[in-house]
Amino acid sequence: MKKGAGFGGQNVLPTDIPATWAAMEKLHDSGKARAIGVSNFSSKKLEDLLAVARVPPAVDQVECHPVWQQTKLRKFCTSKGIHLSAYSPLGSPGTASVKAVGNVLAHPVVVSTAEKLGKTPAQVALRWGIQMGHSVLPKSTHEERIKENIDVYDWSIPEDLFIKLSEIEQMKLIRGEFWTHPEGVYKSIEELWDGEI
Ligand code: A2P
Repeated sequence: MKKGAGFGGQNVLPTDIPATWAAMEKLHDSGKARAIGVSNFSSKKLEDLLAVARVPPAVDQVECHPVWQQTKLRKFCTSKGIHLSAYSPLGSPGTASVKAVGNVLAHPVVVSTAEKLGKTPAQVALRWGIQMGHSVLPKSTHEERIKENIDVYDWSIPEDLFIKLSEIEQMKLIRGEFWTHPEGVYKSIEELWDGEI
């Protein structure tokens, strides 16, 4: 069987990162891609990539929200000039497997911050990401929520409340068991995230 990462119980995803990156660098060279980046890379995977990359990644897109703030990865990205982009910035509350682990929008510190500022918990989660310097990529199928989610630019979370958010106990919600496989490169989530979990 091909050595790869698991997906949906199968051992299918290719994981030759240097070869994949070299192909992406060619796209960059040709001008077809103005910037190239990665997703779900730990600090270690970024470090390994930087050791072989001719064109460094512009961005690392990872799970990031007040309950999983990516403190270590963010410091590493900042030191290397790599932008951190947040997927699941609301903690993906509609996903059952995620809900079972934790709910960002129901977290008491997020809720009380929202109440104090007259905003919604979703707006607080997004504004927190923006104030941290991330880009945030929320998804919604409801027009009202899409409008709510974009309405985060003409106000800010004051420092005292921001500090409280930074003190939230951390818990990775999107754990990625589905990317592991007993025959694959990543046999456990610890291997997948290089212990950053
Ligand atoms: P819906 O599509 O029904 O609005 P994430 O971007 O973190 O993955 O979260 C996406 C989930 O969050 C979707 O289930 C979406 O549901 C829900 N969602 C998006 N915006 C809001 C909001 N402002 N308030 C509550 N839930 C939201």
